[in-house]
Amino acid sequence: MSTLNGKNIVLGITGGIAAYKSADLTRRLIEAGADVRVVMTTAATEFVTAMTFQALSGHPVFFDNSDDTEASGMKHIELARWADAIIVAPASANTIAKLAHGRADNLLTTLCLASEAIKCFAPAMNRVMWDDLSTQSNCKRLTDKNWFQFGPASGSQACGEIGEGRMLEVSDLLSSLEHCFKSGELQGLNLVITAGPTYEAIDPVRFIGNRSSGRMGYAIADAAREAGANVTLISGPSHLSPPEVKRFVAVESADEMQQAVMSSIKSCHIYISTAAVSDYRVADVARQKIKKTEDRLSLNLTKNDDIISAVANQQVRPYVVGFAAETENVAENARQKLLRKKLDMIVANDVSESSADKPDIGFNSDYNALHIFWSSKGQLEGEQQFELARKTLLARKLITLIANRFRDNSSQHAKDTA
Ligand SMILES: Cc1cc2nc3c(=O)[nH]c(=O)nc-3n(C[C@H](O)[C@H](O)[C@H](O)COP(=O)(O)O)c2cc1C
Repeated sequence: MSTLNGKNIVLGITGGIAAYKSADLTRRLIEAGADVRVVMTTAATEFVTAMTFQALSGHPVFFDNSDDTEASGMKHIELARWADAIIVAPASANTIAKLAHGRADNLLTTLCLASEAIKCFAPAMNRVMWDDLSTQSNCKRLTDKNWFQFGPASGSQACGEIGEGRMLEVSDLLSSLEHCFKSGELQGLNLVITAGPTYEAIDPVRFIGNRSSGRMGYAIADAAREAGANVTLISGPSHLSPPEVKRFVAVESADEMQQAVMSSIKSCHIYISTAAVSDYRVADVARQKIKKTEDRLSLNLTKNDDIISAVANQQVRPYVVGFAAETENVAENARQKLLRKKLDMIVANDVSESSADKPDIGFNSDYNALHIFWSSKGQLEGEQQFELARKTLLARKLITLIANRFRDNSSQHAKDTA
C-alpha cells in the first residue's frame, strides 16, 4: 500500500507551463489513496483551469480570493493544519523566491508559512532561470528549512531550449512524495503499541468501557511503521480500521491486553502505551444477563494490574512511553506519573471537555495537543510541547522525538555499562 494512503495532501500550483502535468499528479495522488486539496496562485489560473482540478480532486479549488465566509475566514490556517504534506508542483521561480524568504502575500505562500506539515517543491522553469544564482540560493534556503526538493530534471523545454529546469515526471514526483513519509528513524526496531479502550464485562451483554477511540494509538502505529519499525499493535475495541502493521492483536479486556503485551514484550525495543486501560474490572461477572428487578444495583470492582508498570519493572525492559489523559493539573500529574511508574517518557494530553478557547481535542477527535516529559536515571530530564495539530502529524513528530530519545538513552546505557 502507498504511504500516501489516507494522507491529506495540499497540492499548490503556480504559474508555469508544467501546470498541466499537475492534473495527472492530482489523479495519481487520489489513486494512491490521498485526500487532495488544490491551491492555485493567480498566475496558475492563466495556465490551467480550476474546473479540471475541482473535478479530479472532488473538492473546490482554493485561490487567493476564495470565499472564506463558509469557514472561519482562516482558510490558510485550516489548510495548514489539515495537511499531512504540501507539495508545490510546479514551483515557479517567483514562488520559490517568496517561500525562501518567508513571504506570505497569497494563500499558497501564507499556508506554507503557517504549516508544520511535510513540505516539498518541484521546480519547473527555463534553464537560465534555473541556473540563476538567486534561484539556486533560494532553493538552498528552502532545503535548509527542511523542504524536500524534487528535481528538476533536464531535457527539452517548452521554450525550445534544452537543459535543466523541467519538472520531474509525475511518477517520480509521486514516489518522491511517498518517500517523504518513510523516515527510517526506527528502521529494524521492534515496537509494541497498545491502543483504544478496554471493555470490562458486567454480564454477557454489558460492559464498562471508556471514550478512547484508538485514533492516537493507530496514528502512532502507522507513523512507527512508516519510520521502519516492526510494529505489534495491541488494540482494544475500536471502530477504526487498523493500520497495516506487522502484527495486529485485537483484545477486549485489560486482562487480555496484559497477556498480549507480556507475550510480545521480550524482543521489544520500545513500548508505547496509548491504550486507555480500565483501572478496575467487575469482580463477579454475571453468567446470564442481569434482569431489571432491583431498584438499586451495586457492582463490586477489583483493581486491574497496571500493565505499564509490569513492563517498566522488568529486569530487561524496553524504552517505555506512557500516555496520561488528564482532565486537570495535566502537566503536574503527568510528571508525577513519569517518575512514580519509572517510565522513560510520558505524553500528557488534556481530555477535559472542550470550550471556546479550547477546541475539541483528545478522545474521539482528529486533533490533539501534547505535552511530553522524559526522564533519565529516575530524574526529569526534559520536556517539549506540541501545539494543537492533527493526530497524524503529532504522531510523526512524537515518533521522531521517541527515536531521538531512544538513541540517546541507548548510547548513554552503552557508556554506563562499558
Ligand atoms: C507563457 C509563460 C510561461 C511561463 N512559464 C514559467 C515557468 O515554467 N516557470 C516559472 O518559474 N515561471 C514561468 N513564467 C513566469 C511566471 O508565470 C511568473 O513569474 C508569475 O509571476 C508566477 O507567479 P506565481 O509564482 O504566483 O504562480 C511563465 C510566464 C509566461 C507568460
